[in-house]
Amino acid sequence: MLLSVRALVAGYGAVQALYGVELEVREGEIVSLLGANGAGKTTTLRAISGVIRPWSGEVVLGGRRFDHEPPEVRAAWGLGHLPEGRGILTSLTVGENLMLGATVRRDGATAIRRDRDRLLELFPALAGRLGQPAGMLSGGQQQMLGLARALLARPRLLMVDELSFGLAPVVVEELLQLVREARESGTSFLLVEQSLSVLAISDRSYVIAGGRTLLEGRSSELRARGAESLARVYLGTHAQDVRTSPPGGMS
Ligand SMILES: Nc1ncnc2c1ncn2[C@@H]1O[C@H](COP(=O)(O)OP(=O)(O)OP(=O)(O)O)[C@@H](O)[C@H]1O
Ligand SMILES: [Mg+2]
Repeated sequence: MLLSVRALVAGYGAVQALYGVELEVREGEIVSLLGANGAGKTTTLRAISGVIRPWSGEVVLGGRRFDHEPPEVRAAWGLGHLPEGRGILTSLTVGENLMLGATVRRDGATAIRRDRDRLLELFPALAGRLGQPAGMLSGGQQQMLGLARALLARPRLLMVDELSFGLAPVVVEELLQLVREARESGTSFLLVEQSLSVLAISDRSYVIAGGRTLLEGRSSELRARGAESLARVYLGTHAQDVRTSPPGGMS
């Protein structure tokens, strides 16, 4: 098991946002975490990466508890986190932004250059713009750059917060394809989304609402249940209707 999150409780100041999130990512998996605005998706990723400290619960990476470790220790283990809003430094060039991803690596310039070149083959839209300020990229290209930068760290597990945010469906499609290809080189993914498009490339999915894991299943099964019932889960209006498969084997 790459990641196990158990009974995760967290919040901001006195405001509780998570009430017991349960999820797992296995080696080689692409897992999606779906939920409505305010469901607790971003807070979950922050608590896993250590940006905020969990109030209680466990974050276990590769069999070892990390919930009391600082973010850099989790990053050194191989945990990547592409936050909401892409985190691109718009005044730096595309190439400079990309290389920021290599700062956590300890395996030398040759290996980093080789991975950088391979990534640029995968992301040709960036290859021709390495010297340009990153602020000149389109939204989709900036998201691509964020993804490429995160992959240059060679994470074992990369968590991505709303890859699709604000992007046209055709661009989202392209980014999801890149995620699928990146998985082939050994990175597992936890993709946070409001958009159901992620079901097409993920192996398993979780739905969270009100800071709790509401259901878990194979993405193909969730798709088969239909977008409409899932959308109802998102809105939380008829959550009881679909609470037929509680998260299994994790409590
Ligand atoms: N910095 C903060 N301070 C106080 N409360 C916060 C903060 N960030 C989030 N919250 C609250 O925590 C809860 C979960 O928010 P979170 O950002 O994790 O949701 P989300 O699922 O990522 O939503 P979105 O789809 O809008 O990104 C919400 O009730 C939100 O208002
Ligand atoms: Mg969010």
